[in-house]
Amino acid sequence: MPTVGLVGVGLIGRAWANVFSRAGWNVKCWDANAEATANAPKLVAQSLQDLAVHGLVDDPEAAARRIAPVGTLAEAVTGVDLVQESGPETIEAKIAIWQQLDAAAAPETILASSSSAIVASRFTEALKGRHRCLIAHPVNPPHVVPVVELSPAPWTDPAVVKRARSIYESIGQVPMELKKEIDGFILNRMQAVLLAEAFRLVSEGYCSAEDLDKTIAHGLGLRWSFMGPFETIEMNAPGGIPDYCARFGGAWASLAGRPYEPDVLGPENVARVMASWGGTPSAEDIAKKSRWRDERLAALAAHKKAQKAYNG
Ligand SMILES: NC(=O)c1ccc[n+]([C@@H]2O[C@H](COP(=O)([O-])OP(=O)(O)OC[C@H]3O[C@@H](n4cnc5c(N)ncnc54)[C@H](O)[C@@H]3O)[C@@H](O)[C@H]2O)c1
Repeated sequence: MPTVGLVGVGLIGRAWANVFSRAGWNVKCWDANAEATANAPKLVAQSLQDLAVHGLVDDPEAAARRIAPVGTLAEAVTGVDLVQESGPETIEAKIAIWQQLDAAAAPETILASSSSAIVASRFTEALKGRHRCLIAHPVNPPHVVPVVELSPAPWTDPAVVKRARSIYESIGQVPMELKKEIDGFILNRMQAVLLAEAFRLVSEGYCSAEDLDKTIAHGLGLRWSFMGPFETIEMNAPGGIPDYCARFGGAWASLAGRPYEPDVLGPENVARVMASWGGTPSAEDIAKKSRWRDERLAALAAHKKAQKAYNG
């Protein structure tokens, strides 16, 4: 039975306990706050029950029984396949915790940090086992939002990244991989741009905050729940992404404005994106896929209609 050692079982650490235990892993929990360690199993048991209501956990009691609080950090990281660190988000805390993790964990154990924005090279450089360290950034709450951003340091062994990817896949998460380090990784950088623009638009008086939220919840966010921005624009012009950018790129670049260069959606960047994206589907395929998109949106619309609004 694979085992994960969770170091830090606040909000995110407990959500990881849910994810790993329901996937059949044994889970060892430790937190610098003894009360947090002691309370984790019962709080996670409740969240497993909540997921079972939606058919997302087969046997919540069995999953909860796999979660064990332990008395020391060393115990949490001994005899485990993976350590998932979810301690405080400060560079001082990461440096202190990671020195202990590297000293206590067996050399083959992968050490992953949930850090939201601090790149791994900032706290793993001096570690003897730095080749087995990386970021595995979840999105809150990871037991229902599956993406995990894997961000290795320049010295992380590619085999470790590969093994981490297959672990997160095997427990039902959706890993993606950064090719080089950048503060905030991908998701939070994307979110930062959107949030900055939202604050600008509302503070400059273009619409109310409530109406701005509607444009995401009842607009952009719907497609984004099953497609990314590239897949979205590919279906919005018969010739796919290059065609879309040729038609609308100029307008988009001027809307994006600060802090982008005017040719951010120009031919050179389109060529780079297409080299990563692969080919352009035929107009026929795009039309076919658009039907699939519309079916997914219809199913989502039906789901949303059936949900109760939050009313306190
Ligand atoms: N909250 C989010 O939305 C979110 C999302 C993704 C990633 N993260 C990242 O996950 C990590 C944890 O965030 P959180 O929201 O769970 O915070 P939290 O405050 O809920 O939990 C942090 C836990 O770390 C414990 N702790 C403090 N010092 C410790 C030490 N030396 N060793 C072990 N544990 C220690 C605290 O007692 C606390 O229980 C951070 O790196 C954060 O950036 C947070």
